[in-house]
Amino acid sequence: MKTIFSGIQPSGMITLGNYIGAMKQFVELQNEYNCYFCIVDQHAITVPQDRLELRKNIRSLAALYLAVGIDPERSTLFIQSEVPAHAQAGWMMQCVSYIGELERMTQFKDKSEGKDAVSSGLLTYPPLMAADILLYSTDLVPVGEDQKQHLELTRDLAERFNKKYNEIFTIPNVRIAKVGARVMSLQDPLKKMSKSDPNKKSFISLLDDPKQIEKKIKSAVTDSEGIVKYDKENKPGVSNLLSMYSILSGKPVDDIEKEYEGMGYGDFKAGLSDVVINTIKPIQDKYYELMESEELDKVLDQGSEKARTVANKMVKKMENAMGLGRKRK
Ligand code: AQP
Repeated sequence: MKTIFSGIQPSGMITLGNYIGAMKQFVELQNEYNCYFCIVDQHAITVPQDRLELRKNIRSLAALYLAVGIDPERSTLFIQSEVPAHAQAGWMMQCVSYIGELERMTQFKDKSEGKDAVSSGLLTYPPLMAADILLYSTDLVPVGEDQKQHLELTRDLAERFNKKYNEIFTIPNVRIAKVGARVMSLQDPLKKMSKSDPNKKSFISLLDDPKQIEKKIKSAVTDSEGIVKYDKENKPGVSNLLSMYSILSGKPVDDIEKEYEGMGYGDFKAGLSDVVINTIKPIQDKYYELMESEELDKVLDQGSEKARTVANKMVKKMENAMGLGRKRK
């Protein structure tokens, strides 16, 4: 079986963008692959986090992974900081990366723009991400469009390491969903939907209640044309809503356009709200059940143990290849 690794940051409440672009794919892929799903809390601290909020988000994200359908019997679910090999390998990968290539990362530029103080961790996040992936000899990484550049860097770093030291890394491939790889903000359809966006109206969280969802979709930016039609260039707001509708309902975009022909955006938005609420409701029911149960900690303990065993072996191989410490078997 081929191996998959993917991570999500506990940097806020999971959005519909994270669900459509990443989690939904994970559930489908776990039947065919040996999967590692990680709560990448060390990535989250590259920008300021409230300590208590972070702890809450880590637990919440773990429960959401299970609530959307990740099966701990088939997949390994764990928290990054509970597997020290990630930080160890992350350091070694930093030492094979160049400052210039890290400064060229779009996410670094976006997240550091206009900030007075930027942590060095924000710059060195991609080599840590490379380590996360390479530790498990990953074949495939399912991510949203925004992570494509980091994945390309991961491949470059792995090839550089293999060439310079020893051929120990599998070169991973990226898997980006054909539709929904970039769900846009409800308030600015030219910007991606992000869980850390200070404007809460810009995203739908998987834990929003029906009233919040209706309100957010009602206030989503569209245009003055009043025609439900997919046209990404000229109607980015409506097109974003149509993509969401299509992915979550399973109906082709053409059919939805026909369904709302001659109607205004009000009816279309009400229909989309129903689709979103119906998708989220069973996930929330399971989520609240899990948050009350002891199952969550058991799953995370088992996951960390399994991940540690695999990751420690790769760290030893990396140290041997680079000549660190004493030679060990
Ligand atoms: N808007 C999106 N559309 C599709 N996929 C998305 N992803 C994120 N936003 C969208 C995918 O979700 C996975 C987890 O992302 P992450 O938590 O590692 O970090 P991110 O990509 O930076 O996501 P956010 O929500 O924008 O987080 P913050 O606000 O903390 O930066 C990834 O596979 C990502 O592609």
